[in-house]
Parts: sequence; structure tokens; C-alpha cells
Amino acid sequence: MNIVWATSEAAPYAKTGGLADVSYSLPYALAENGHNVSVFMPYYPQVMGDKCDDTECVYKLLGVPFGDSNEEWASIRQHKISENLSFYFIEFDRYFDRPKLYDWDGNEYSDNAERFIFLSRAIMQAVLALDIQVDVLHANDWHTALCNVYLKSDLYNSYENFSRTKSIITIHNIGYQGVFKKSNLYWTGLGWDYFNVHCFEFYDQLNLLKAGVLTSDMVTTVSPTYAEEILTRDYGFSLERALQHRAVQGKLRGILNGIDVIEWDPETDKLLPYNFSDKDLTGKAQCKAALQEEFGLPVRPDVPIYGVVSRLAHQKGLDVFIECIDDMLKEDDVQFVIIGSGETWQETALSDYAKAYPDKFGAHIGYSNKLAHLVEAGSDFFVMPSRYEPCGLNQMYSMKYGTVPIVRSTGGLEDTVNNYSAGNINKATGFKFYDLYPAALRDTLRWAGSVYRNDKPAFAKMVTNGMKMDFSWHHTAVEYEELYQHANSRF
Ligand code: ADP
Ligand code: GLC
Repeated sequence: MNIVWATSEAAPYAKTGGLADVSYSLPYALAENGHNVSVFMPYYPQVMGDKCDDTECVYKLLGVPFGDSNEEWASIRQHKISENLSFYFIEFDRYFDRPKLYDWDGNEYSDNAERFIFLSRAIMQAVLALDIQVDVLHANDWHTALCNVYLKSDLYNSYENFSRTKSIITIHNIGYQGVFKKSNLYWTGLGWDYFNVHCFEFYDQLNLLKAGVLTSDMVTTVSPTYAEEILTRDYGFSLERALQHRAVQGKLRGILNGIDVIEWDPETDKLLPYNFSDKDLTGKAQCKAALQEEFGLPVRPDVPIYGVVSRLAHQKGLDVFIECIDDMLKEDDVQFVIIGSGETWQETALSDYAKAYPDKFGAHIGYSNKLAHLVEAGSDFFVMPSRYEPCGLNQMYSMKYGTVPIVRSTGGLEDTVNNYSAGNINKATGFKFYDLYPAALRDTLRWAGSVYRNDKPAFAKMVTNGMKMDFSWHHTAVEYEELYQHANSRF
């Protein structure tokens, strides 16, 4: 199949979260299975960074109709990974040559509607310019949802390139929907007849994700539990009615994400000072010491370290973590290390803990992939108290690195972690809690700590259970292939 994957970010080129990881590793897995995959994303300055600029300009003057009558000129750059996998970058500096992808100092860029409407239109034009006969158009989140609306519209439905195209939209996070003033409809080049409840209209505003959900042949999200949760008022962010409508039609599915098992392999990971495997954990103990040193904590093998790597956003529940660990820092013999950036008050609270408890709490405020790998490898526990978590990748990375996840039972966290209990030790891979209260999280952190100290065989078993789990894309890539083949008929 010829698969076009539309996204706003992909690792290693530009990344703010898990969408980037998935936008590299799933296309990679599909290409390995023999499909031709073309990934389209913006050409941000980050792409020019250290990793590549192996990109090459393959199309200089791409005309992109924008608004009612304007035409803008972009270029297409290509990074060819293999014969059947290419990343294509839409180069258009006015919108994409910015220091950060979506915001500055926590404030969304005021022209984000224009930027991503432009991206979607440019992707459609690029497909025509490169003359790709598209079998599958796979859009991701609100930023590229419009591609699937365009596909069915008069603007594109008569092109031969799209004559057999099935459209899929994957929701990676329904908390972000691309809701803007309705006047932004102008930029789409689509008429006001599209501004109705079956498409863009959402409380008299323009909702790009909603339009994608209602017009795509198939809607997916990134775990089976999240696919159920988003049908409810608590998790649907006001899109639950639209999603219920698609679910009744049999057009909504939850497919669990996999992980990139080449990048995230403790035996070969070049970002780690020491490597290890489930057969020999010596390197893990050395990574723990290196982690303690890195964060200026006392180097002690016996104390449990709880690690966190996260965006500091409301979704992630770290406000509750910040509240609950105060008692533990005062009373318990524990260490915490955290890497994160996001809400300013959380950044400040974490830095304050690091100042107040230099022997127990280490914080790196910012983004560091290298440190993230060290935290995954050197910690004993990995904490994810998410309010909601469509899939979550870190809990899977941590299990592969022999680090036991402690998670709130929601979305993909529910689907990937097997809760510890005395009777379940052969399967257990982590600790779960249900209600997001400081006391519930604190009790679970302490419960895990007591298993670490007092039941070493059980803890060791959980470590190896996690390391043996298969989270590779092999299974899920097959699920996507099935979905692509049957998007119009069986599902
Ligand atoms: P989300 O996409 O909601 O942030 P995921 O768990 O799916 O959550 O993916 C997060 C990804 O971003 C992981 O690869 C994680 O390691 C990475 N990440 C998040 N914050 C940081 C950070 N401050 N430094 C390095 N990596 C980070
Ligand atoms: C989103 C979600 C996260 C998921 C990722 C990749 O950012 O918040 O849970 O793992 O997308 O699908």
C-alpha cells in the first residue's frame, strides 16, 4: 500500500511528546512490512539541528492555495530512510521557522490555526506534486485532521491520486482539538456550508479535530481503554457525542501503541553509560549510581529511586505528585529524580524541592533525551499519575529498562501494566492506583517502596517480568494494516 502519514512532529527531527515517537516508529514498522510510507511534516529549525540535515530539496515551488484567492509558495524537502520510507518536510518559513513548535513561553502562537490549516493544505498539494497514488491517508491529531476533510471535498475528490484513498485519523490526545474562532474557516478555502454540526462547528467555533473525526473513514486512538474512556463525559472533552456517533457506526477503534525497540534497548542504548539485560543487571546498578551522581544525590544502592520524565501539563497529574511527596521527603529514606518542563508553577515547585532536599530530590527543568534515557535506566520506579493517558510510552520504556512503573489506572497505562499482588507475582509488572488523590498516590509510592525493601525476590521478579514484555510494533503494525485494508468495508 502507499501510505501517506501526516503529522506535526516526528522524532528525531522535532519532538514535544509521544506523537513524535509514534510518527517515526509506526511508519518504520509499516515500511519494514513492505509498504511505501511517506511521512509529511513541517520543516522546523529543529530539523536542521544536529541529527540530520541530510534533507534535500526535492520540489522548489509548491503552490499552496490559501484562503479564498491567495496562493503561497512552499518547498518540499526529503529525508530518505530507505527505498520505501521517506520523510518529507514542508518548508515555509513564515509559519514554521520558529524556536518552538506550538508556543512561546507557554503561550500558543496566535496564528496556530493558519499554520496548521496551511500545513494540511500543503500536504495535499505535495501529494499531487510528487504524484503519489494514495491508498491510505493517515492524519494524526488536530494539526493534520483537515487533510481528511479535504480528501472528501470538491477541492480534492476528483484527483486520480486520491481515487482509491481511505482516510484514517488517530487521536493521540483529545485534550487538544484545534478549536479556533470560526473566521479561520476562511484559510481552509472551504465554504460556510462546512460550518455545521456534522463538520467543523463546535459551540459556534471551528474545531479541526471534530471535523476530522466526523469525515474520516476510520477513527482510531492509541489504546483500547482510552477508546472507551473518550466516549464518556469525564474523558471526552465535549467531543464524546461525535465519538459515540462514530462508535455506533463501528468506526472507532483503540490500537495500542508500540515502542521503538531499537532506540529503547538497554543492551545497546548508546545514550547510557552502562548497558544491561534481564540476564545481567550489573549495568543497571551502575546506571543507578551514575544517575545519583548526575543529580548530586548520595550514591547509595539500597535507597529506592522514583523517576519521572514528563511534560508538566495538567494531564500528567504531577500537581498531585508535588502535593503528596512533601511528607515522604520529610519522613522517608527515598530519592526522587525528575525531568520535565511545562507549567511554570510546577517547574518552580520542583526546583524548590531540589533546593530544600538536595540529598533526596533531583530535578532537571527542561528537555533532555539523554537524561531521559538515564532516568529510565537508573531508577527503580517510574511514576505516572496521569489524569488521563491515551497510551503513554514512558511506562513501556521503563519496563524494558527494568524500572517498575507506578501508574494511575487509566488509558494505555491500564492496558500495559499488570498490577502487583501477592497472588499475581508471575505476571506483575507494576503498581496501579485508581483515585487521583495525594493520599492514594502516596500510599502506592510507599507500598511499592516497601516491596522493594522487604520482598526483594518479588521486586526482582517484577523487574524481569517487565523486561521480557514485547512492546514492539510487530503486533500493532499488523492491526493497522488490517484496518487500512478494510477501512471502508468490514469496520
Ligand atoms: P505525551 O506524548 O503525552 O507527552 P508519552 O508518554 O506518550 O506522553 O511520550 C512522552 C515522550 O516524550 C517520551 O518519549 C518521553 O521520554 C519524552 N519526554 C517528555 N518530557 C521530556 C523531557 N523533559 N525530556 C526528555 N524527554 C521527554
Ligand atoms: C499523546 C498522549 C500519549 C500517547 C502519545 C502517542 O501525546 O498524551 O499518551 O502515548 O500521544 O500516541
